[in-house]
Amino acid sequence: MRGKLALRGDLLDFSGTPLWQSRATDGVRWRPDHWLLVDDNGRIAGALPGHQPPGEDWQKMDHSGRLVMPGFIDTHVHCPQLDVIASHGTGLLDWLNTYTFPAERRFADPAAAQAGAALFLDSLLEHGTTCAVVFPTVHKVSAESLFEAAAERGMCVLAGKVLMDRHAPDGLRDDVAGAERDCEDLIHRFHGQARNRYTVTVRFAATSTREQLAMAGRLLARHEGLYMQTHVAENVDEVKWIAELFPEARSYLDVYARHGLLNERSVLAHGIWLDAEDRRRLADAGAQIAFCPTSNLFLGSGLFDWQAAVDTGHAVTLASDVGGGTSLSMPRTLAEAYKVQMLRGTRLSAWSALHAATRGAAQALGLDHEIGHLGEGAMADFVVWDWAVGAAARHRDAVARGEVPGLAAQDLHARVFAWMTLADDRNRVATYVAGRRH
Ligand code: GUN
Ligand code: ZN
Repeated sequence: MRGKLALRGDLLDFSGTPLWQSRATDGVRWRPDHWLLVDDNGRIAGALPGHQPPGEDWQKMDHSGRLVMPGFIDTHVHCPQLDVIASHGTGLLDWLNTYTFPAERRFADPAAAQAGAALFLDSLLEHGTTCAVVFPTVHKVSAESLFEAAAERGMCVLAGKVLMDRHAPDGLRDDVAGAERDCEDLIHRFHGQARNRYTVTVRFAATSTREQLAMAGRLLARHEGLYMQTHVAENVDEVKWIAELFPEARSYLDVYARHGLLNERSVLAHGIWLDAEDRRRLADAGAQIAFCPTSNLFLGSGLFDWQAAVDTGHAVTLASDVGGGTSLSMPRTLAEAYKVQMLRGTRLSAWSALHAATRGAAQALGLDHEIGHLGEGAMADFVVWDWAVGAAARHRDAVARGEVPGLAAQDLHARVFAWMTLADDRNRVATYVAGRRH
């Protein structure tokens, strides 16, 4: 039995959607020096000003002067790819063949899959991420290990066995009938168990036959509430290859649409090389694009057009895409997102970036009753952060707070933007999942 917890710090989350390209605080909920109250079921019970602590029956944790935010939601990341993060010299298709496919074979071994899942989820927590949409590997045991490790930690994880029945090496291919059986068994055992959600996981159109894509669509139609994840329009050579493989499709995205894979619980990574019609279909379906800036830069894939997504009205969330991406840290991911958008002439605000990585992602996943904010009734998935680590960052934070003589104090956006740009896992002090400290 855990008791009731009150944790003091500067509370930052979102009560609404910030205005695009604006530093105004619309939708921002800023409660400096407050007690965050967590009940004994691991849910948020409210907040009180710092000078009004709750009674004796609340265990107190004083993190005064630290930032407290909802745990980040990473909407696209690969568990087995901690093996290949930071591998040199290739674009997407070469990178898959040279580094990634060979490494993923290791997860056929149950011991490797279990150790890999534990390392991966503990690393997410160390980086301040409490929920993720995750690719394991084609091996059933890799999905089982991930779901079991998530349940042990109380984490909300969306995942499913990767489907790939062609254009992959030996040891990494399944077949339609076997994959369907494995998926049915995994759905039965894990979907809605603990905080796990089963996610039909098509690696990308190139590694599934039409028959397998159709089977994935049937799974989604057969089982209410399943999620779907895949990659789309990441790299120019990839887009060309998909057009050759599926000449009947209008576009890469259309391959998924034709097989019943687009709905409001679909998470498609990248979406750099989409056109206006594709974006409209995403908006109509209520599907989201997971923008993966560190991966898009590292693999030289391209610059995602967030403005076009806003104009069309489909959701955009933020993702590390490790191991194509270079860090599990969401602050680092957001900092790179800002830079990518600058290259496109868009001034991403700290508010829009942080919202997309917390409450916006929760909304896009239909999970904002449970995660993504510090409102009453939400699960107590939150992270305590140092505002600054190291002399230079501490100085920058002091400038923002108006403590450096000769320089005027800055507004809240300026301070939070500097934090987002400079922070990483060194800033993380504690991660709480359902009220339990990790
Ligand atoms: N497309 C298909 N598989 C992958 C993958 O593992 N990473 C990335 N970034 N793109 C992919
Ligand atoms: Zn990916």
